[in-house]
Amino acid sequence: MSIFDNTIHRRHSNSVKWDAIEKVYGLKDASEILPMWVADMDFAPPTAVSQALQEHAKNAVLGYSFIGEQALQSIIDWQNTRHDWHIEKESILFSNGVVSALATIIKAFTKPEDKVLISSPVYPPFFNIPKSNGREVVSCPLVEKNGTFVYDFEAFEQALAQNIKAYILCNPHNPGGYVWDEATLKEIVRLCAKYDVLIISDEIHSDLMLGGAVHTPIAKVAGDEINRIITCMAPTKTFNLAGIQISYMIVTDKKKRAQLEASNMACGQGSLNSFAPIAMQAAYTEGSAWLEELLVYISKNMEYVIAELEQVSGIRIEKPQGTYLLWIDYREMEIDEKVMMQRLLEIGQLALEPGTKYGEEGRGLLRMNVACSFETVKDGVARFKRALL
Ligand SMILES: Cc1ncc(COP(=O)(O)O)c(C=O)c1O
Repeated sequence: MSIFDNTIHRRHSNSVKWDAIEKVYGLKDASEILPMWVADMDFAPPTAVSQALQEHAKNAVLGYSFIGEQALQSIIDWQNTRHDWHIEKESILFSNGVVSALATIIKAFTKPEDKVLISSPVYPPFFNIPKSNGREVVSCPLVEKNGTFVYDFEAFEQALAQNIKAYILCNPHNPGGYVWDEATLKEIVRLCAKYDVLIISDEIHSDLMLGGAVHTPIAKVAGDEINRIITCMAPTKTFNLAGIQISYMIVTDKKKRAQLEASNMACGQGSLNSFAPIAMQAAYTEGSAWLEELLVYISKNMEYVIAELEQVSGIRIEKPQGTYLLWIDYREMEIDEKVMMQRLLEIGQLALEPGTKYGEEGRGLLRMNVACSFETVKDGVARFKRALL
């Protein structure tokens, strides 16, 4: 028995994952649909987090607040012990979330019509945030090699040479769950330095390492180029706190910090909701054991899904090195994406994410979130099989 066998009941709680299915998938009634799409978990956070939040609510001192020393220290200690990454207090800047941090960074360091590079398939806001701010998005797709997506550095260099101002890296990768190795990260740094390109590294999935994989913060291997990197991190993916809205940027360059602060101020973004740093601090200081148990649980969920779904002819799934997301390849089945989604929703009553949401390279793939109880995973697998067999 694991604590993760007891999931929280989320339907009718204004949960995007459970209660926004009709709207997102265009359905009249989604009451019987099992959601395995949005990247949050069906698990309660560590008890220490709920206790700290309850204490804060009880005291109800809810005026303007700032981030205290202990909360800052909890970040430094977490990065140190989790990723062997030594950061300075001064280098930390806060934001409401990684997506809002991406917008702040894009606005601070690029101008309208500037080019921003991404590597698709990738998390949709990497396309949308620069684009909706009037920047041109250039995609240099990852390429497939032995069944996984990898960088094609020749193409990457050609793309960088087109007067690119910033590159948004997803490290680890969503949706593929790839944990980029040191050599790959160093090559990204080398090439971005050659063309004087800012590196924005989204490392929100960095704590979700499976099967002994090790996350490498790109800034850690950047050597003399560290000042061209802005790293975005958060406790929210790790501890299922997305609704509390907190993230932080690690920026070693003092001048860039001042520019980011000015960009934040220009948007009227000064302080955080006072519950957010309290949740983060409790998670970072007391959540390690919870996280270790979570990773074992997710790993088992993944192994079950892979073993079961690979029995379906034409399905191939590689176990990811990180995240709680499975990237399911059905290309051999030669089913159109629309038909696949229709079958899953109508016959299987199962909501997964279509691969093209992450770019054209995702066609023929589906993203499944397995951060749920084993019972739910079994149900999801049965629904998937019902839809396809
Ligand atoms: C790569 C990546 N970045 C950012 C986010 C969202 O971050 P936030 O909720 O802090 O805006 C997600 C959520 O799925 C993600 O996968």
